Amino acid sequence: MIELTPKVPDRNPFYEQVGGHATFVKLVETFYAGIRDDEVLAPMYPADDWDGAVWRLTAFLEQYWGGPGTYSEQRGHPRLRMRHNPFTVNPDARDRWLSHMRVAVDSLELAPADRDLLWDYLERAAHAMVNTFDD
Ligand code: HEM
Repeated sequence: MIELTPKVPDRNPFYEQVGGHATFVKLVETFYAGIRDDEVLAPMYPADDWDGAVWRLTAFLEQYWGGPGTYSEQRGHPRLRMRHNPFTVNPDARDRWLSHMRVAVDSLELAPADRDLLWDYLERAAHAMVNTFDD
């Protein structure tokens, strides 16, 4: 049979379902507002490139959840554990990171099932990112 409808890109419905680009922008902007005020985490981030850091996390999360693949086009394979090696990601840093992320996730007011799916992933990823138990 001849296909008359244009091909729709095969995207993960989660990305669209939670509101697409605008949702991920809001998530990461709210998250970074918390990071900037965090006395332990803020100094780890590049003071002259906050916008770049916001872009990298937004693009990564969009790609992970089925949005555009711009992150890997510009940054290559994520290799997140390796990219975090320069930073002291101990349990305190992880818990601080997660507390800012929790505020950001809650600010989205997603359906509970979507919120839980997103949160479970972020929590597991943050636990996997710990690279030291030293201060
Ligand atoms: C557990 C505590 C964590 C800490 C303290 C932390 C800290 C940092 C810092 C300081 C940077 C450099 C900022 C920049 O220049 O982009 C960074 C980058 C990044 N982080 Fe984390 N991070 C944590 C967890 C996570 C998690 C759980 C994810 C993913 C779900 C993540 C995703 C990223 C991404 C995508 C980048 C940019 C990588 C790149 O392309 O260079 N981080 N993180």
